[in-house]
Amino acid sequence: MTIETEPGLWLLTTPSSAYAVRLGPDGGPRCAHWGPPLTLDQARALPAGPEELPVEGGDRFGVAGLQVRYGDAVRGVEWRHLGHDIEGDDVDGGHLTIRMADRHYPLEIDLHYLVRPDSDAVDRWTTLRNIGDGPITVLRCDSAAWAVPRREDYRLTHVTGEWGAEFQVRRTALPVAETVLTSRRGHSGHHANPWVMLDAGDATEDRGEVWSAALAWSGSWRITVERDHDGRAGWSGGFGHEGVTWRLGPGESLETPVFTGVYSAEGFGGAGHRWHDHIRRHVLPAPGRVRPVVYNSWEATGFDVSQARQMELAELAAGIGVELFVVDDGWFGGRTGVFAGRTGETAGLGDWWPNPDRFPDGLTPLIDHVKRLGMRFGLWVEPESVNPDSELYRTRPEWVLRQPNRRATEVRDQLLLDFSRDDVAGWAYARLDELVTHNDIAFLKWDMNRPITEAGDEVWVAYIRNVYAVIDRLRAAHPHLTIEGCASGGGRADLGMLARTEQIWTSDNTDAAQRIAIQHGYGQVYPACTMGAWVTDSPNALTGRPTPLAFRFHVAMSGALGIGGDLRRWDPADLEQAKHFVERYKRIRPVVHEGRMDRLGDWAVQYTLDPHVVVLSWRPTTLVRVTAPVRLKGLDPDGRYRDEDTGETHHGALLMSHGLPRPWPFDATSELKRLTRAG
Ligand code: GLA
Repeated sequence: MTIETEPGLWLLTTPSSAYAVRLGPDGGPRCAHWGPPLTLDQARALPAGPEELPVEGGDRFGVAGLQVRYGDAVRGVEWRHLGHDIEGDDVDGGHLTIRMADRHYPLEIDLHYLVRPDSDAVDRWTTLRNIGDGPITVLRCDSAAWAVPRREDYRLTHVTGEWGAEFQVRRTALPVAETVLTSRRGHSGHHANPWVMLDAGDATEDRGEVWSAALAWSGSWRITVERDHDGRAGWSGGFGHEGVTWRLGPGESLETPVFTGVYSAEGFGGAGHRWHDHIRRHVLPAPGRVRPVVYNSWEATGFDVSQARQMELAELAAGIGVELFVVDDGWFGGRTGVFAGRTGETAGLGDWWPNPDRFPDGLTPLIDHVKRLGMRFGLWVEPESVNPDSELYRTRPEWVLRQPNRRATEVRDQLLLDFSRDDVAGWAYARLDELVTHNDIAFLKWDMNRPITEAGDEVWVAYIRNVYAVIDRLRAAHPHLTIEGCASGGGRADLGMLARTEQIWTSDNTDAAQRIAIQHGYGQVYPACTMGAWVTDSPNALTGRPTPLAFRFHVAMSGALGIGGDLRRWDPADLEQAKHFVERYKRIRPVVHEGRMDRLGDWAVQYTLDPHVVVLSWRPTTLVRVTAPVRLKGLDPDGRYRDEDTGETHHGALLMSHGLPRPWPFDATSELKRLTRAG
């Protein structure tokens, strides 16, 4: 990693990519290069390309990532370069700040770039500062714009979906138009996810250039991808959806979230490797922390939570090797007897104490029981929400997010607390801190089950910042706490959440056959160790599909394994088989979570942590007509690989060229292969 500079030119180099910025004829910062490594001499020969942060004004007619209005109603920016700073070191990375300002108005604009020695990611963000004595209105402030070099054609890759069907990969020709990927929902969304990839239409899983970027933001966002008539393509992106404005008072500054870019010359698979490495090393709050095998009671009991039932499930879970037992929704509320406890969707959110009808002596007897069984304990919470039928709502109606003269929209019978208020965030922290301190809680599932509505302009941003602040404070006070992020499944999965949670609850759809595509999409950017994946009952509660236990395990073992079925209904043979799979998972867990992940087509995935190799392959239905063997990737061609189960030895070269046979061509068949390089 290096940052080199000479007047008007900056060159950032990562292990396998480079990014160059130069000042254009108008004095504004422009992208000169984003691609393979360059020397400073080569960078010098490149012209200034598209703007690093397109502004309004002059003969610009494209997407403006920065839109401001000054006190006299004048808009736009005319660039003036002030200087630059370079800070940092070889361990934490080098941070370049290009300091700009408007030529006339009292607005300073810092463009930030951060590169690290062991990552191909370039972090970019923007800071605005009002150095005048009147307010400036910020109509839009993107984190960064990313320009892709000129190619004959462009293709867009992103994910779409809905509740129960998140992260569906879409790969389409990029129209000569502005294509807006966005969430206006106050969370990153089920219907989209804040990342984007472009290629020239020629990249494959293993070859070709791919340019990608992901936002570290968990609220509303917008990425506008633009392909113009001159054949240029790129995108500008940041927090907030259109129309969300910001008043920047005198002396105030506004800092955007980070927008991270990754260039891969090794196709979509290579992009995935770079994202996974980067997130594991530099985004996650506790890199290398082992993800426990979790049991979660949601699908087993729904809201029908009782101490006795949870104890029974805990015994069965411990028997199959579960390491952490989580009680989901339904354990709280109802303290005074006046207010209903959480026995369904309509009541109790906000009242974060154990429901005395269900836990007469609090949670301690259950927690002691769980600990005696050798497991740690976790709880589900949804701190941002409140049911109108709750003690919190009756005592603090003014805490609800709403606007004067407007109805407060209820979704799933619940309202949101105005987390942009510091007193609300302070209350949430105090309640959670007390819960975690007074009970031996090692794990929280932090859920958020409705979109944000009725939020004033700045609330859209301040709300999310306070969610971050509460989680950050909680983690600082309880460094051993593990947190799972959730928003009705995978509705809030992004680099912002991953900076403060160990894992994400990927989807409420636990049908293993459907889950393969959901996991395929999740893994394009986010690593397997963060992908919560449960084995649940058959037939599946959501889809009714019956599948064998082995298939359900083999799909869930490709992420952070959990068990979510009603173990009371599993017969002894199922429990015995489950124990065997959990044992096997624990053996492959370091390889799945820390190794390189290679997708072997749509129906198999390989994890490599030399000398260990794990291959999981699935055939969800006979309609999946793949017959060719599963060819492995990235092995030592001269090496020999021993199958840990059969003792057979395979040549690395042959595993890559001829491959392994597929699982049997029946519905829901699957296989786990564990290989070790023997020499
Ligand atoms: C959301 C989550 C589920 C479960 C329920 C509880 O839907 O995604 O996993 O926790 O809430 O109400």
